[in-house]
Amino acid sequence: MFDLKGKVALVTGGNGGIGLGMARGLAKAGASIFVAARNEEKSAAAVQDLQSLGAEAFAVQVDVSDEKSVGEMVTTIVRQCSSIDILINNAGMNIRKQPQDLPLAQWRQIMDTNLTSAFLCARDVYPHMKRSGSGKIINIGSMLSIFGVSHLPAYGSSKGGLVQLTKSLAVAWAMDNIQVNAVLPGWIDTDLTRTANEKDPTLYERILGRTPAGRWGSIDDLAGVAVFLACRASDFITGTTVVVDGGYSALC
Ligand SMILES: NC(=O)c1ccc[n+]([C@@H]2O[C@H](COP(=O)([O-])OP(=O)(O)OC[C@H]3O[C@@H](n4cnc5c(N)ncnc54)[C@H](OP(=O)(O)O)[C@@H]3O)[C@@H](O)[C@H]2O)c1
Repeated sequence: MFDLKGKVALVTGGNGGIGLGMARGLAKAGASIFVAARNEEKSAAAVQDLQSLGAEAFAVQVDVSDEKSVGEMVTTIVRQCSSIDILINNAGMNIRKQPQDLPLAQWRQIMDTNLTSAFLCARDVYPHMKRSGSGKIINIGSMLSIFGVSHLPAYGSSKGGLVQLTKSLAVAWAMDNIQVNAVLPGWIDTDLTRTANEKDPTLYERILGRTPAGRWGSIDDLAGVAVFLACRASDFITGTTVVVDGGYSALC
């Protein structure tokens, strides 16, 4: 039920952080992985990491905020492997600014990278999943899909939007046997949060004190949920969100 042998997975932003943690889970379950990101050096290292787990792994360069680049990425993968069975829309970024200080260009950059990218990747992968008769799409939201933070208005909007996109795609493609779900990670130790910790020296302890599990998450904490939402065990689960946060969002 949890076996992914013979499946092809595309993980955007899979060259580090949460994307790599999820890719490792899929790789250990037997899937072939395409790591899709901009930084070729980081992607090459991630491919080696996944190959060391015994998986087939490849890098493909993409800017997920660019429609043409996304189209070319999907064509490249399908040319090589003929199908894409699992899509993880994980690539993301943030810019920390109060709403009144956020220029439109930065708002658009965040929305394009975090939200529009997921629509583009899903739209372009869809015909291949439909043709093969099944598919799994996993969108990576955030605690900011639920909560508001004053200095992350565009990030929060993009992550809230991802939950609604998840529901729309799930409803649209349920009859094609394509399941679409979202994962909302809590506070995970990655480059993204390391930068946040540098900018706000009190952040680390505040999160620790507010997380019932008493620790920050590691990228390995995301491996299991990726396998579950990518395998047959979740075939009747679609349009939902799975929170992976050590209890952060359950605490009042
Ligand atoms: N860390 C957390 O606590 C946390 C919590 C909730 C949600 N998340 C979400 O989890 C996802 C991964 O974040 P992370 O924490 O693992 O941060 P990260 O290590 O900075 O990873 C971000 C990834 O996205 C890729 N990326 C960014 N812009 C891209 C673009 N335009 N085109 C292609 N790839 C792009 C980056 O690769 P390149 O730079 O090589 O392109 C990188 O692999 C994000 O969506 C983030 O919002 C993180």
